[in-house]
Amino acid sequence: MCGIVGYVGPKVDGRALEVIMEGLARLEYRGYDSAGVALVAGDHVVTTKRAGKLANLIRALALEPLPESNTAIGHTRWATHGAPTDENAHPHRGGQDGKLALIHNGIIENFHALRSALIDDGVVFLSETDTEVVAQLLARSYDKIGDLTEAMRQVVAELKGAFTLLAVHADEPGVVVGARRNSPLVVGIGDGETFLGSDVAAFIGSTREALELDQDQIVTITAQGASIINFDGTPGVGKAYHVDWNAAAAEKGGFPNFMAKEIHDQPHAVADTLLGRTNESGALVLDELRMDEAELRAIDKIVIIACGTAAYAGMVAKYAIEHWTRIPCEVDLAHEFRYRDPVVNERTLVVAISQSGETMDTLMAVKHARLLGARVIAICNTHGSTIPRESDAVLYTHAGPEIAVASTKAFLAQITACYILGLYLAQLRGGTYADEAQSVMKDLCEMPAKIQTVLDGLDRVREIARFMVDTRSVLFLGRHVGYPVALEGALKLKELAYIHAEGFAAGELKHGPIALIEAGQPVFVIVPSPSSEHGLHDKVVSGIQEIRARGARTIVIAEEGDEDVVPFADVVIRVPVTPTLLAPLVTTVPLQVFACELAWAKGLDVDQPRNLAKSVTVE
Ligand code: G6P
Repeated sequence: MCGIVGYVGPKVDGRALEVIMEGLARLEYRGYDSAGVALVAGDHVVTTKRAGKLANLIRALALEPLPESNTAIGHTRWATHGAPTDENAHPHRGGQDGKLALIHNGIIENFHALRSALIDDGVVFLSETDTEVVAQLLARSYDKIGDLTEAMRQVVAELKGAFTLLAVHADEPGVVVGARRNSPLVVGIGDGETFLGSDVAAFIGSTREALELDQDQIVTITAQGASIINFDGTPGVGKAYHVDWNAAAAEKGGFPNFMAKEIHDQPHAVADTLLGRTNESGALVLDELRMDEAELRAIDKIVIIACGTAAYAGMVAKYAIEHWTRIPCEVDLAHEFRYRDPVVNERTLVVAISQSGETMDTLMAVKHARLLGARVIAICNTHGSTIPRESDAVLYTHAGPEIAVASTKAFLAQITACYILGLYLAQLRGGTYADEAQSVMKDLCEMPAKIQTVLDGLDRVREIARFMVDTRSVLFLGRHVGYPVALEGALKLKELAYIHAEGFAAGELKHGPIALIEAGQPVFVIVPSPSSEHGLHDKVVSGIQEIRARGARTIVIAEEGDEDVVPFADVVIRVPVTPTLLAPLVTTVPLQVFACELAWAKGLDVDQPRNLAKSVTVE
């Protein structure tokens, strides 16, 4: 939520604005209510900011170009305090001389009290934001101390809440100062130039060498590098790392939008997440987990916490993990977990799933779980992010950068990582499924090719999506692991196409949802494999008959060779034969493509749906 970029380069080369604009373009997925930049030029700071998408700022800069500079900050906003207007856009100026500019991601919880005190002192505010309060405090502090880093240190001590702050001051050209608490900020180390960004995408076009900052740190960048101190003034260190993807991975690669590209990335996302998880004898090895095996053996309960799509990945994981390990597994929305007085103790393993590693609700749930004594494993796609750092261990998904706001490839990679974790626990604890872990891993390794097969055969899905642009409501039914897939299919359609959509457990049909069925109502049904246990397949096929008899238009996702569905389906979408627990890796794909294509056909911005942001860093 909110994208932040900072840059200092060589004096001779005034490309600061260019770097910031490129960074903002790559971070726009984090918020697109407004965008703005501030440059240090001569002995003053200049800013330009506009409500709306980055394109508005680009137009404004073309009409009134800014001077060349080697020091700049830029911001793309997801509004919290104050409407998305030009005035509320960042950067905000501080001090009567306006020599300071500041950008912010997060929420300053005590801003009302701070603002009132400043107003009593005669400060006039130009915006309704919490950010401007910090800009004014920082300018005051700077006027007293004459050092931007120290001024920042004094100001953060007064702030409550979560924040990443970046500031420039006209009297300190060649310097950008940043601070972070519970909100993301990484440093990019270039050759004679240094970058700051909400994530590495901000500077991936210039460098792949990054520094991870810790909680409660202040970083001061110059063209020569970065120096770090802790909020208490003691020296700090950053953890250096090399980003394992390049700028091309964060580009559309010939697809009309990032989402289409990311959907097509999925065979790779799953294959890369599976890479290197077994030794020569086929046993699972999770070196990166770095968690004591005895502790893992002692676990008597698993709680998965996540939000949005990641929570649906957790729901899929529950079926697999309980089946393979026989450990009871609960799934909680992270924002509910904290407030329901959960039964969690030292023998509970909490698994926090997050693509971004920054979702505030999930982060807070992680902290809460650790306070209660639980061990926490993060399943995360973003190196250097906060949730893995706040957890006891991490299992990275290797989906590559996910730019489209609504999650697709991260979902399949998260499910894959959960399978790996479940199989690893099964192997560790012995029992029925320990021996089977290796054969399931083999099945998993076949999944990327199966996902590719689905992707290659989706013309019919695209056709029906285009045909359904005026549809006002779509229902999704699934059972067992197909249930979270139904929920995810409905979520994708809501997020991307703004169509009312609901996912139901197919078994619930007769307990209410069937009342929604009327002539022509489109219903997607995810049919379990005919080989699945407990006759689930036949039960879902009966469900299709029941809704069809009441006029539903049925779009059925069924396994190759499943002929039972044919008489009751208006459309059949085929997926390859797949073991039941692994089926979400293929059955989700047509639903993603359907939502993406339908939204695109409606002329909507598939990558940046209204009101949403990718990395929700506020509660
Ligand atoms: C936002 C995004 C979703 C995502 C959710 C959780 O709501 O729009 O696509 O699933 O956050 O994000 P995380 O980064 O924690 O997986």
